[in-house]
Amino acid sequence: MLPPAHTSATGLLLDAFDAQLFRENAGTAAAKLHDHLSELSIRGLDLIDPATLSEAARALMTEEREEAAGLDEKKLAAIIDLYVRTGIPVHSPGYMGRQFSGVVPLGGVIDFVSSVVNQPSSFYEAAQLPNVAERIMADELNRFIGWDPDRFAMVTTSGGSLANLTALLAARNRAFPDFWAAGNPALDGAPRPAIATGADAHYSVSRAAGIMGIGEAQIVRLPLDAEQRIDLDQVGPALAAAEQRNLKVFCLVASAGSTAVGAFDRIDALADLARERGLWLHVDGAHGASLLVSDKLRHKLKGIEKADSLAWDAHKMMFVPAPCTLLFYRDKEAGLGAFRQNASYVFDEKTDPYTELDSGDKNFECTKRPMIMPLWSLWALYGRGLFAKKIEYLCRLTDDAHRILCAEPDFAAVHRPEANIMCFRYLPSGLPDGNVHGLQKAIRDRIKRQGNFFISKVDIDGVAALRVVMMNHRITTDHFTALLSEIRRVGAEVLSGDSGAGL
Ligand SMILES: Cc1ncc(COP(=O)(O)O)c(C=O)c1O
Repeated sequence: MLPPAHTSATGLLLDAFDAQLFRENAGTAAAKLHDHLSELSIRGLDLIDPATLSEAARALMTEEREEAAGLDEKKLAAIIDLYVRTGIPVHSPGYMGRQFSGVVPLGGVIDFVSSVVNQPSSFYEAAQLPNVAERIMADELNRFIGWDPDRFAMVTTSGGSLANLTALLAARNRAFPDFWAAGNPALDGAPRPAIATGADAHYSVSRAAGIMGIGEAQIVRLPLDAEQRIDLDQVGPALAAAEQRNLKVFCLVASAGSTAVGAFDRIDALADLARERGLWLHVDGAHGASLLVSDKLRHKLKGIEKADSLAWDAHKMMFVPAPCTLLFYRDKEAGLGAFRQNASYVFDEKTDPYTELDSGDKNFECTKRPMIMPLWSLWALYGRGLFAKKIEYLCRLTDDAHRILCAEPDFAAVHRPEANIMCFRYLPSGLPDGNVHGLQKAIRDRIKRQGNFFISKVDIDGVAALRVVMMNHRITTDHFTALLSEIRRVGAEVLSGDSGAGL
């Protein structure tokens, strides 16, 4: 028999894991989040100096001691308040800045369930419903991609960056079957493996080249056309030049919704080009793949059925808690070659109906969040209409905002928006060309600090532009017009404060 000290937990330990206390405190959190979600005024970020915030956070910490402290419910409430208050108010109509969004609140409820039942989802035995839900969502979404239901595969990954890396690994392993075990063939004098992608592809693509041992220098940057899409006329010459440099391009990465301006590369033509040359076509649809669920917008990804893989962030345009990324492969045999490892404690030599759904050998993570659950639950509860309606509204709104902008003589659109991202510049009359870059940056920084709106900025052709990403269906054209007034006001402040100098 074990000594009594080993058989009974202390009262404090019991308290910390107590179901009743959990229920009461979950109620407190829900009430606070209700207040948070109900506050819909036009707001941006209340940017706090990190030292001040650290001080506030440290003030909430229990003094160091060996015994666990008892629960102070006021402190818990204060932690929740501080957390909520210091975030970007993503559900306010003032938030137009980035690609993450206010989630469908019930998605948060399901995510909360996931956190408490804590089922890591790479293995069926640990997360039965999430694994089944992954299969169901894969089938549901593949209806819009159009791949052979018996041949395609899908794994979830913790974000679009990891999905891009995983797909590129699969592509590399198909083209260079020995790379995984033997290393880069270029070490033995063979042509260097390389990846071709648009000049403004998301940085995760070149990062993947670094991680995979291919080297960032082996990214072949394809020039863009006036619409910021890969210029189809330049692909052939760029690939020929790469070959001259002793590069062996094995993968072409297209963007379906580029990060900077939301441009959609022409997948249809790129897929034909990739096939002719035996290249893997990966589509980075982290932002824009969600347009597939809309009958009106699906055409932006025309030709997707000819791609080899597709990264799709549901935590962007499907409005679920991050991370939730789905990585699709047209051919499961090729796709599932991304990782080649044996680990007897988790990977079985032969699968059965239970282990067949395991994804531990197909994704990078071992312990993985059951990220599909909010997406599947919302899809189950509301159907695809919820997502399609919101996406269509956001794209229409951005188009309307573009029209409003074009009618203003002191603003210039950088491009015609294809989805819900739009970049533009504030160009008051008399502004010297040399000050354009500095003025946009100064305006964005001041707006970020002043707290009425939240927008972002991006350099396009080396010159800064203001960038809005419409992720919130509560934003109307009136809010956009108010943003333009704010930009004029802040711009005047900047120009008068600095007398235009130093921009
Ligand atoms: C086109 C594109 N690809 C990849 C990513 C990276 O996705 P994640 O932030 O989920 O890693 C982003 C994120 O902004 C993106 O816009």
